[in-house]
Amino acid sequence: MNERDADAPETTAGADAVDGPGTFARPETGAGPSAADGPGDEGRPDAVRTWHRLADGSVLLDGFHALKHAVRFRADVPVAVTTDRRAALELADELAPDVRDALEALLTEVPETTLKALVPRPHPTSVAALAVRPSRAANLGILARTPRSTPVVVLDNPRNLGNAGAVIRLAAGFGATGVVTTGTLDPWHPTVVRGGAGLHFATAVERLTVDELPPGPVFALDPEGEDIRGLKLPDDAVLAFGSERTGLSPELRARADHLVALPMRPQVSSYNLATSVAMTLFHWSATGGAPA
Ligand SMILES: C[S@@+](CC[C@H](N)C(=O)[O-])C[C@H]1O[C@@H](n2cnc3c(N)ncnc32)[C@H](O)[C@@H]1O
Repeated sequence: MNERDADAPETTAGADAVDGPGTFARPETGAGPSAADGPGDEGRPDAVRTWHRLADGSVLLDGFHALKHAVRFRADVPVAVTTDRRAALELADELAPDVRDALEALLTEVPETTLKALVPRPHPTSVAALAVRPSRAANLGILARTPRSTPVVVLDNPRNLGNAGAVIRLAAGFGATGVVTTGTLDPWHPTVVRGGAGLHFATAVERLTVDELPPGPVFALDPEGEDIRGLKLPDDAVLAFGSERTGLSPELRARADHLVALPMRPQVSSYNLATSVAMTLFHWSATGGAPA
């Protein structure tokens, strides 16, 4: 691309935010469960205690839809809370009857003050849960498996947490095998998980180096590549996208088997990262590959 840095991230994730702390309450040193449970929580100390015991290192599922997706894609969810169990189960009846029984068994009702102590800015659905992050070994096994029937998406040093979440959601929707990031952004950062709507459990999400990329032909997206409209992307493709700030890294370019361009009139410098992934996955699906 000839206009470097022309497309700054919409919401800049500075270096600190990229690997920054989570946005939900972690146990504080010396603060036992009673500190968090507070008066009125007598019937619910187990859920709150479990939350505090597990918060550090768990994945926050922020809202009904994130919980619904995580349960649907078989995440291990040890604790889920809501301020209105009846309303949450009515939502399940309406939107997710397949996981209604699982949600009924999982959800513990807590007062609003308790939810706010656990999650500073609760989701409008007043549902929050913790899930166990899949092991790196399990994800690496999925990414390395051959033959592969759906592509892996690679984000080469992405900077924007919202973009990464949107891409994970897209990858889940298209049934992609996984989303790999290179660089410092943590693809399991709470803001990315929020953007992914709980769909991190529907595709293998890991951070790797360019040297560790999964097997398969690398199709790297770049406006100076070959027009995608004349190409069929194979099911085992590794679809690589550059950073919002600087595009594809030299390491990724050196690893690429093909450079591929999305149609764009000359006066426009580039598309947004997540929309580029959307167009590419759509092209793959429209030319033979398809979500299950
Ligand atoms: C926001 S763009 C990067 C812009 C960056 N300022 C640059 O100069 O390279 C992020 C990524 O989306 C993909 N992309 C955006 N527009 C594209 C296009 N027209 N054709 C192919 N890939 C594109 C590329 O992978 C690119 O590295």
